[in-house]
This record gives sequence, structure tokens and C-alpha cells, in this order.
Amino acid sequence: MTETPPNDDKPNDNKPDDAKKTASLLSSISSNSAILGFFAFICTAIIAGTYLGTEENIIEQQRQAQLKALYQIVPKNQHDNDLLDDNIPFEAEALGHRKSQTLFLARKDQQGAQQPLTLIYPVTTRDGYSGDIDFIIGINIDDASIAGVRVISHKETPGLGDKIDLRKSDWILDFNDRRLGDPDIEGWTVKKDGGIFDGFTGATITPRALTLSIANALRYHHQNVDSLLQRFDARVN
Ligand SMILES: Cc1cc2nc3c(=O)[nH]c(=O)nc-3n(C[C@H](O)[C@H](O)[C@H](O)COP(=O)(O)O)c2cc1C
Repeated sequence: MTETPPNDDKPNDNKPDDAKKTASLLSSISSNSAILGFFAFICTAIIAGTYLGTEENIIEQQRQAQLKALYQIVPKNQHDNDLLDDNIPFEAEALGHRKSQTLFLARKDQQGAQQPLTLIYPVTTRDGYSGDIDFIIGINIDDASIAGVRVISHKETPGLGDKIDLRKSDWILDFNDRRLGDPDIEGWTVKKDGGIFDGFTGATITPRALTLSIANALRYHHQNVDSLLQRFDARVN
């Protein structure tokens, strides 16, 4: 009778199979990772490309909106200089700027010389309901009255806060010809807060932010107009 040899090393018989399985698993993981990585790269590239394209578009649209607004505030037949060329770089924390902006000056021919007529300030109010509201305000040099205000960009809610946009309502025209002192300081807010300017039903935050920011721009002009005009005189063409 033959004795069956002890089966001690039986599990070792499977070792080559296990190694093969592990190798194939690793190879499958690494090829799947490579495919996944490739698609992640393609998707990231598409998203980045779309973002860059859109950002350029937005900047250009804002520039066009600003130019249109400039000529609404100081129409071409009311000034004699090339408005787009008469500008200086300008950044003021007090006017809410987050980056360098452009300050424009309209001039009018008087007694053979071009006299400053209206400074057009870019302003950002950071107190809108949905964030920054960018606008420009033209302030006349002779009496510091408002030549006009136009909102350039905002994210306020359609039907609630967007009445600051002239395309939606003529609310913004109420500021024309106003100045510091007209109304008095207490009047420079919305009616709900004791001021003279209309609010919007159920949406006071937006008009309040804009009204206070416009009053602030008038104060800034009062304090800085002389030095700003000197910068225009000193600028190298
Ligand atoms: C979805 C939603 C959107 C709103 N959008 C604005 C807005 O764009 N501007 C604004 O002033 N208030 C907006 N509000 C209202 C404000 O929450 C706040 O109630 C209001 O400005 C206060 O104004 P009141 O004192 O006239 O009620 C919005 C509210 C909700 C629920």
C-alpha cells in the first residue's frame, strides 16, 4: 500500500496563477487610470478654454457698455475733445475699485482753449444685494452737479433690483443735476431711510447701495477734483 505524500505544499501550486491575476489587475488599473486621466485632462482643457473665451467676451462687453454710457452722459455734440483719448489710469479704494480703472474727462472749447467740462468716474459699490454694482458717474466741473449716472454691470435680481438699469426703468435719471447740498446730507438715501430717492418695492438694498455710493462719489469729487485735473494736465500724450 502506497502512502499519499503529505499535501503541505498544495497552496503553493496556485502561486503562479495568483501572480498572473495580480499582474493583470494592476495592468487593468493602470490602463483605466490612464484613460480616466486623459479624459480628465481633455475636460479640464475644454473648461479652461471656455472660461478664457467667456472672460474675454465679458470684458469686451463691459468696455462696449462703458463707451455707450459715456456718450449718454456727455453726448458727442456737448463736448469738443476726443473723450476716449482724454483719460488717465485711476484706482481709488474709496470708490470701491478692486483694480485699476480709467477716468475720463470731457472738455469744451471756450475762448480758444479747451476747458474741463465733466469728469466721468468709474465707481463700484460693494453693497449690492448680489455683490458688486459697477457704474459710471459724470460730474460737471463748474458746479459739481451730476451730468448722469449709468450702471455698467450688476448681478441684482431681475424684476427686483435690476431697476437700476436704464433699460429696465428710468430710476437712475433722478440723480441728474443733483449735487451735494441738493438734497441736504440727510436726503441722500432712499425714502424708506428718510431720504428723497425712491426705493423699489420689496428690494431696498439695491437702490440704497447705489444712492449712498453716488453721494460718496460726489464727496470724493469735492475732495479730489483739483489734483485729478492736475494729473490730466501733466499726462504725457
Ligand atoms: C430671491 C430673492 C432675491 C432678492 N433680490 C433682491 C435684489 O436684487 N435687490 C434687493 O434690494 N433686494 C432683493 N431681495 C430682497 C432682500 O432680501 C430684502 O428683503 C430687501 O432688499 C429689503 O427691502 P425691503 O426693506 O423693501 O423689504 C431679494 C430677496 C429674495 C428672496
